[in-house]
Amino acid sequence: MSGGPWWRDGVFYQIYPRSFATSMHASSTHGGVGDLRGVTARLDHLVWLGVDALWLSPFYRSPMRDFGYDVADHCDVDPRFGTLADFDALVAAAHARGLRVIVDWVPAHVSSDHPWFREARTGRASARRDWFVWADPGPGGAPPNNWRSTFTDGPAWTLDEATGQLYLHSFLPEQPDLAWANPQVRRAMHDVLRFWMARGVDGFRADVVHNVGKDPALTDVPADVAGLPYFMVNDQAVTHEYLREVRRVLDEFPGDRMMVGEVFLLDPERMAAYHGHGDELHLCFNFAAVFAPWSAARWRACIDRTAAVLGARDAWPTWVLSNHDLPRHRTRYGSEARARAAAVLLLTLRGTPFLYMGEELGLADAPIPPDRAVDPGGRDGCRAPLPWHGEAGHGWGPPTWLPFPPDAATRNVAELKRDATSILHLYRRLLAARRAAPSLRRGTFEWLPAPESVLAFRRSHEEDARLVLVNFGDDRVRVELPSPGVVEIASDGVGEGAVFEQFLGASQAVVLRQPTPAARR
Ligand code: GLC
Repeated sequence: MSGGPWWRDGVFYQIYPRSFATSMHASSTHGGVGDLRGVTARLDHLVWLGVDALWLSPFYRSPMRDFGYDVADHCDVDPRFGTLADFDALVAAAHARGLRVIVDWVPAHVSSDHPWFREARTGRASARRDWFVWADPGPGGAPPNNWRSTFTDGPAWTLDEATGQLYLHSFLPEQPDLAWANPQVRRAMHDVLRFWMARGVDGFRADVVHNVGKDPALTDVPADVAGLPYFMVNDQAVTHEYLREVRRVLDEFPGDRMMVGEVFLLDPERMAAYHGHGDELHLCFNFAAVFAPWSAARWRACIDRTAAVLGARDAWPTWVLSNHDLPRHRTRYGSEARARAAAVLLLTLRGTPFLYMGEELGLADAPIPPDRAVDPGGRDGCRAPLPWHGEAGHGWGPPTWLPFPPDAATRNVAELKRDATSILHLYRRLLAARRAAPSLRRGTFEWLPAPESVLAFRRSHEEDARLVLVNFGDDRVRVELPSPGVVEIASDGVGEGAVFEQFLGASQAVVLRQPTPAARR
């Protein structure tokens, strides 16, 4: 499996710790929220599935107003999730199974409960005052500019009454933005990276990392984007300098430590710039894919644009369909058949795939009754707890913090594991096929002619080759290929092991194994 660095070759699996698994399933007081011991106890499921690396969303001390993305202590585990010893045990258990571990790093803002902010707001002369971004109120208490926050639909500025100034927050008022222009702040956040690398993590997922740099002149954003949250518009040259510093910190440690960035800019070219010249982020999430509807033309355009903008920088793509912030793709695309076909695409495109826990079960978002809604951003549906089995509690100590996804009595790990035709087994077969095929992991990519509703491409590496066909249409369609090969994987399992018969079913996708030149002779 040698070839490229591990983060190019492998498949990541995102764990949202509140909802993955609990070690306290027998307890009705604590078993409704996941914990780190719960993750450790379920690692064998991930090994069975066949992923290579885990990304853990935040488990740090937090008042949980943004469910952990409001960090009050970057270097400790929130007691709801366990202890540092539990974390160490998790990393050791993952490494013993050959799984890498990356953790979330939230560099752009902290919780208003963080000691840094508490100290900053004690007075204008506080030693930590300039760890945050402050401005004097304008006439009538007006904010200094038109920047908007996320989740509140208001200005990104809130008055700190005691000191008479406004502070900047790209998200909730309880998430003040750090002032990265201050070298002390940068050093403190570098030390957070060192703390976790010393504990053995293989890398980081960097939260809204493009939002660390701020325009020191606090200039208004242009009118045409003034309705968007500021963090979706903010793109400062200085941030690239900051990221080069961050990269040097990662490089202080041996063992190929990496960082994948959440660069939430809608223009792919701007996103691509955050790879620098091989000296900034190793990977960036490709959000264009998440926003592509179920359409062959739109996906084709997204794939071409991704290849063009990243190719120009020699950067490596990522592919993602779902995460903890957006409706699940099973919900967006509307059927399990499409979700299965999308899984084939995700795991055969050129680039590193990121799975979101539960997509291997074909989970849809949970419907959330108004009295159970808890997230200020309305994202509860995709964060519902994973059902581990069909019996009461589904592996959790009721009541869970959110309701279960639909059909948990049948759509759960134990049940789908028993059924070889399930989507869970499809993911497992895809992951195994990918692991075994250098062409799928790092081969070249080339489009093949196909009917309008179909994407057809060839991946090849030396003598190893695969063809991938994905039917986005709702009708059976004929796809003629000069040398079709054998169906290695079908999204619905139909025809696997047989020669491809030149037809794709509605919303069906297949991976075809090509005979190697040696076998052809
Ligand atoms: C990122 C996280 C999201 C969080 C936000 C603010 O977008 O993915 O969950 O709410 O940052 O930290």
